[in-house]
Amino acid sequence: MRIRIAFFVFLISTLPLKGEEPREFTLSLADEIAESGLADYILPRFALKTGRRATIVIDGADARLEAAEGEPPIMARGDDVYALVLEGENEAARRFADWLGSEIGQNTLAAFQPADGVAFGPPPEVSVRTAVKIEGDADLGREVAEAHCARCHRIAPEMRGMTLGSTPSFAALKTLPDWSERFSAFYALNPHPSFLLVEGISPPFDPSRPPPIVPVEVTPEEVEALLAYVAGVAAADLGAAIESR
Ligand code: HEC
Repeated sequence: MRIRIAFFVFLISTLPLKGEEPREFTLSLADEIAESGLADYILPRFALKTGRRATIVIDGADARLEAAEGEPPIMARGDDVYALVLEGENEAARRFADWLGSEIGQNTLAAFQPADGVAFGPPPEVSVRTAVKIEGDADLGREVAEAHCARCHRIAPEMRGMTLGSTPSFAALKTLPDWSERFSAFYALNPHPSFLLVEGISPPFDPSRPPPIVPVEVTPEEVEALLAYVAGVAAADLGAAIESR
């Protein structure tokens, strides 16, 4: 009995009467999303749940899944974040937006295994996180940064000159919503573990892979101090998105 009722409710919810909201909408995709095959995976599942279908188009779509630029992101892949931008008032497109943002939609996204590259997932939280408490000594942090980071990173906007082209400046890193987490853990993030140790925290270097440059050792206190210094570095006003691998 219960099963029948559930089935009946399912029918009602998936097969709306004629004359109701539209059941089709058009969708355009950023090139790399189109190439990933994501749409072939999620759209049939969305259709199954909702009875709504999307047709992929190039231009003039009701909904565009594209790089998030100011729009709230709905999904991410590696460091790329994407938004679903609705154009006009197509209700089926809106249903898709709701579905994609829902737990089921997000689980469906995450279940897709692209043939190439990393999987899609939820967007990073945009709000400034308060998890990391900053209590280090910013002046000490500046000294440590000058001594140990400046040979690769531009550590302050006014410091030009000796930095490696592919290495992000501290001001650029500061634009990332999770900058404090990255700076709290930088010693564990590549390329640093190959040449930098935090006293009492990092494992020793692998003797078979000696550091490629004169190794650096910092204390946990200096890591805190670095974080405090970076907290005071103004975020770069970037014209373009940062490339972080
Ligand atoms: C030998 C060069 C070098 C030195 C010295 C160096 N870094 Fe880096 N750092 C890099 C490179 C290269 C990257 C970019 C890695 C990438 O894009 O994958 C990076 C990335 C970072 C990131 C971002 C990491 C991520 O994955 O998000 C932080 C934070 C960082 N460095 C902090 C520091 C701090 C603090 C110091 C000084 C104690 C320092 N680095 C010293 C080369 C260096």
